[in-house]
Amino acid sequence: MLVSKSTKEEIEKAAEIILQGGLVSFPTETVYGLGANALDAVAVAKIFAAKKRPFFDPLIVHVSDMEMFERKTGHVPENVYKLTEKFWPGPLTVVLEKSNLVPDIVSAGLPTVAVRMPSHKVALDLIKCCNVPIAAPSANPFGYLSPTCAEHVQKQLGDSVDMILDGGQCQIGVESTIIKVDNDNTYLLRPGGVSLEDIEKVIGEVIIPASTKEVPDAPGQLKSHYAPKAKVKIIKESEEILAETDNSGLIVFRNNRRKQKFKNIEVLSEKGDLCEVAANLFTALHKMDNYNVDLIYVEEVPEVELGRAVMNRLKKASA
Ligand code: TXA
Ligand code: MG
Repeated sequence: MLVSKSTKEEIEKAAEIILQGGLVSFPTETVYGLGANALDAVAVAKIFAAKKRPFFDPLIVHVSDMEMFERKTGHVPENVYKLTEKFWPGPLTVVLEKSNLVPDIVSAGLPTVAVRMPSHKVALDLIKCCNVPIAAPSANPFGYLSPTCAEHVQKQLGDSVDMILDGGQCQIGVESTIIKVDNDNTYLLRPGGVSLEDIEKVIGEVIIPASTKEVPDAPGQLKSHYAPKAKVKIIKESEEILAETDNSGLIVFRNNRRKQKFKNIEVLSEKGDLCEVAANLFTALHKMDNYNVDLIYVEEVPEVELGRAVMNRLKKASA
């Protein structure tokens, strides 16, 4: 599948494909999505087939305005409005009661739906242009690294999508934060592009479940996920690496003071900025797979702000 530039004409073509039941990969500010018309169950089924994703794992519905959002949801708690007002469009997904317009395949039969309004202009233009919500997971084979540029999608899923819209490198680089709001409780289902600290400033304390058993109906929070082909080993910044080989690579958190020489080395952020670390994480892991290493050492980063999302992805990649 050829990658298309995101011109107005190409976006119109992409919208046509979505409306006809096809699959379009499109850029968002977090990672590239694999989109289908969220109201068309057959089209959505193609997403699961292309990704080899199990049907018990529900999808995020992407909307371009609040009216579209309100049609897909049932009762909207006050806290959800507080969150959407502050963080939309942007890297936040809210899980709440669904309306019966959402096909079961999208929500995996749950009574809830995950919704987000992306801020990437191409994503918003595409949704507006087709005027239907777009169901989209990240555009990678199930369990593998998420794509942060069009070439990643092309390489991983090229044969099974009808069109790939190129919108450049994703600015945030990790997926959206997922917050579930039910009656009085708010849960963090996945740390991501909006920090927990910023969310708590808006709605107060959020429950961080120790395991998904503590949250009603939260599937898909698998232990192993976001994994490159190579094995991932998380190390401390100060930790010495003993058995280094030509077949291993090193990803350091900030400027590298290690004495050992690695042929394959990536720096996440020279100045140790956590936003930059998040933006470069998947790209660095993709590069390591391209270098064909068997083992990737990755330095841990502080688990605050976007570092929480980064460590969440690394722990899953190494599980
Ligand atoms: O940044 C993102 O969120 C990207 C871009 C493309 O928007 N999308 C993304 O989708 O990361 P995906 O499918 O890779 O991850 C969606 C997560 C899954 O872990 C799924 O289990 C959870 O959202 N999810 C979806 N609907 C849910 C629901 N009703 N209740 C609980 N979790 C849900
Ligand atoms: Mg994903």
